[in-house]
Amino acid sequence: MKPKRVVGWSAIAISVALVLGVLVAYFSSGNTCDAPSTAAPGNPMKAIVYCDYGTADVLRLEDIEKPNPADDEILVRIRAAAVNPLDWHTMRGTPYIMRIGSGLRKPKVTRLGVDYAGTVEAVGRNVTQFKPGDDVFGGRTGALAEYVSARADRAVVLKPANLTFEQAASVPVAAITALQGLRDKGKIQPGQKVLINGASGGVGTFAVQIAKTFGADVTGVCSTRNVEMVRSLGADQVIDYTREDYTRSEQSYDVILDNVGNRALLDNRRILNPDGKYVLIGGGGPDDGRWIGPFVKPIGALVLSPFVSQDMGMMLADLNKNDLTFLGDLMQEGKVTPVIDRRYRLSEAPEAIRYLEEGRARGKVVITFE
Ligand SMILES: NC(=O)c1ccc[n+]([C@@H]2O[C@H](COP(=O)([O-])OP(=O)(O)OC[C@H]3O[C@@H](n4cnc5c(N)ncnc54)[C@H](OP(=O)(O)O)[C@@H]3O)[C@@H](O)[C@H]2O)c1
Repeated sequence: MKPKRVVGWSAIAISVALVLGVLVAYFSSGNTCDAPSTAAPGNPMKAIVYCDYGTADVLRLEDIEKPNPADDEILVRIRAAAVNPLDWHTMRGTPYIMRIGSGLRKPKVTRLGVDYAGTVEAVGRNVTQFKPGDDVFGGRTGALAEYVSARADRAVVLKPANLTFEQAASVPVAAITALQGLRDKGKIQPGQKVLINGASGGVGTFAVQIAKTFGADVTGVCSTRNVEMVRSLGADQVIDYTREDYTRSEQSYDVILDNVGNRALLDNRRILNPDGKYVLIGGGGPDDGRWIGPFVKPIGALVLSPFVSQDMGMMLADLNKNDLTFLGDLMQEGKVTPVIDRRYRLSEAPEAIRYLEEGRARGKVVITFE
């Protein structure tokens, strides 16, 4: 009896310590907005800043200090940026589970955006790959700003000359996700049947084109208004989801790239070949599943995978130089062309994010700089 009581008390003590720890971490988490500087920035630039998690109303266009590149960094004058659902997840701090890394009560990093394209203005003393005047594109936190400093050995590469800054800025998150989902997770092969659910969005418009460059037979799933656009990107078949449920199709597929996650895992499995691969990219809007949201299905896939012959799971994109170069080459050769839906100015970033949150974007939403 005695040992049991000891275990009982230990469990209570650990639980209380955990709750206290979370409360302390929650109330002590802050950011640079808690101690605002009264001095005006000496070398100002405009940037989108947010001090608290919330809707796009929390976003403000502010003058902040222009960054100085460190020895291994480049300073890029941004000419275009692009927004992704990742930006509204970051801004809202949802699903809440991601706040373990980004700040429990307030965002630790108060800058938004990742995708950018621009011109190198200065380089740190150890940088040899780039020089002032080079046009580049890449991914870096805080890209919704006039300047960004980025490590030269990270996700930044020369912009293909035949791409506009807006097109290049559209690429990093969405195209790398499509590429890694198809090539690394989906193990796509020439002649395979590949289905892309959500073929008309940021990831989907790249995925259709990239799957074609791998020689696949591509089926895109989209709504009526996007059928012609998806076909024009190279899809061999298009399923209009307002008329037909793709999981009821008689056709089976080698790879399903799912950007929407609106069908049950078992329904997707029904149309997968015995050694097929189901790759969940994402899905859901700002009001869906705020606690663990996009991770519910991947957990299901993890549980299901050992019991089925198919490979089912989620992937998280990894921004890197090699894949940006690979995509840059595809675009240079004219095999992939970014699709741009809408353009907003930096001051209109809140509207751009609100539009993206509606989940109706046709290709990419871009931020332009005068
Ligand atoms: N795992 C990762 O590393 C990673 C990376 C990037 C993105 N993501 C996630 O992947 C998802 C897609 O990203 P995205 O940038 O492509 O988003 P997006 O551009 O906002 O996607 C919007 C598109 O989804 C289409 N859509 C909406 N409901 C649909 C349905 N029921 N069936 C088919 N298409 C539908 C819309 O077309 P209609 O208006 O015609 O319905 C629209 O064209 C997001 O959830 C994002 O968070 C994950």
